[in-house]
Amino acid sequence: MSSRRRSPKSKSPESASPIAAPSEDGGQRPLSPDTPGGQQPTSHGLTYNQIPYDEEEDVDSGGEDEESLRSTTSLAESIFDYRKIHGRTFQNSKTTEYWGPNDDRQNAGLDIAHHFITMLKDDLLFEAPIDPPPTKILDVGTGTGIWAIDMADAYPAAHVIGTDISPIQPLWVPPNCEFHIDDAQLEWTYPPASFDFVHIRALYGSIGDWGKLYAQAYKALQPGGWFEDLEFTITLQSDVPSVRDDPGHIFKRWAQIFFEATDRLGKTLRIAMDSTMRDLITEAGFINVVEKKYQVPSGAWSSDPRLKTIGRYNLAFLEESLEGFALFLLQEIMGWSYIQVQMFVMEMRNEIRNPKIRPYYIL
Ligand SMILES: C[S@@+](CC[C@H](N)C(=O)[O-])C[C@H]1O[C@@H](n2cnc3c(N)ncnc32)[C@H](O)[C@@H]1O
Repeated sequence: MSSRRRSPKSKSPESASPIAAPSEDGGQRPLSPDTPGGQQPTSHGLTYNQIPYDEEEDVDSGGEDEESLRSTTSLAESIFDYRKIHGRTFQNSKTTEYWGPNDDRQNAGLDIAHHFITMLKDDLLFEAPIDPPPTKILDVGTGTGIWAIDMADAYPAAHVIGTDISPIQPLWVPPNCEFHIDDAQLEWTYPPASFDFVHIRALYGSIGDWGKLYAQAYKALQPGGWFEDLEFTITLQSDVPSVRDDPGHIFKRWAQIFFEATDRLGKTLRIAMDSTMRDLITEAGFINVVEKKYQVPSGAWSSDPRLKTIGRYNLAFLEESLEGFALFLLQEIMGWSYIQVQMFVMEMRNEIRNPKIRPYYIL
């Protein structure tokens, strides 16, 4: 989702563009029903048809790459005193609760996600049509800082600030990149109009008041500056009727319990559903609001080579992350036992690995 801060020259807000997917020439085209693989209505009431597949092909799940992907990611060991749940470490913020562990395993998942998301966007770090290139950039909830570091490398004349509640960013970073420990839900301390680009990615389930967050991003931007936020839906989907039409399938039970847990926490996981982002971003005052939806395969089941690779990385990301998604929310918030959590995660793991049901979700 990208959008622009109204500049004094703008007379009236432009209407939002139709939902679009990137075309091969890097532009945008509306989703069309012509792609092989067919289209099915989703739980969001929209139809998607971006992932081609071949009925005949004997595909594997793509999970074989997990070990090699993990071994290539090295992150600095933290010396801070974190909260521990069953051997996983969690940030101990005094001002907010965050569901995810901040240990190497979860962080490896974040870095893998960065890789497939960048591939999904045709190797772009952002999609807003920022021209000239941004020079003062803020990445809110930066995680391992991988996006901020890549941006600093790609735009050496820019200054990039990444903020997070967890000090999990590397120490050796480009000279034009810095990190601050900051809870994005508190009042931002940057003077108004400090940045020409504010970027957010994957703060789903972390924010109590999204309207306030977007309003703070608006205020921090110079007139004419750009804002981009990319969020996950958490409902795995399948167009295979036996899964799609089964209300008790693990994909639906999984989403349901996570919605309930984060509702209890007061931090919705439904932010990427039902045009909520677009509505709140528009309410914050932004114009030129463009919403894009990507269908992301889990596993290497697509016949399209690019989506096959993306699916393989996405599955590796999910494999690294599933337990981390569940541990705090299901055990601490929903009161499940550790064994229950592990059984639930195992059931989910089996299904996301199953290429025959062609799992995917929407970004
Ligand atoms: C799912 S990760 C995404 C990280 C990064 N944006 C990326 O895409 O790789 C969410 C990050 O948001 C951070 N976070 C959660 N709540 C936050 C808050 N209130 N303020 C700042 N960061 C927060 C977490 O510590 C975590 O690093």
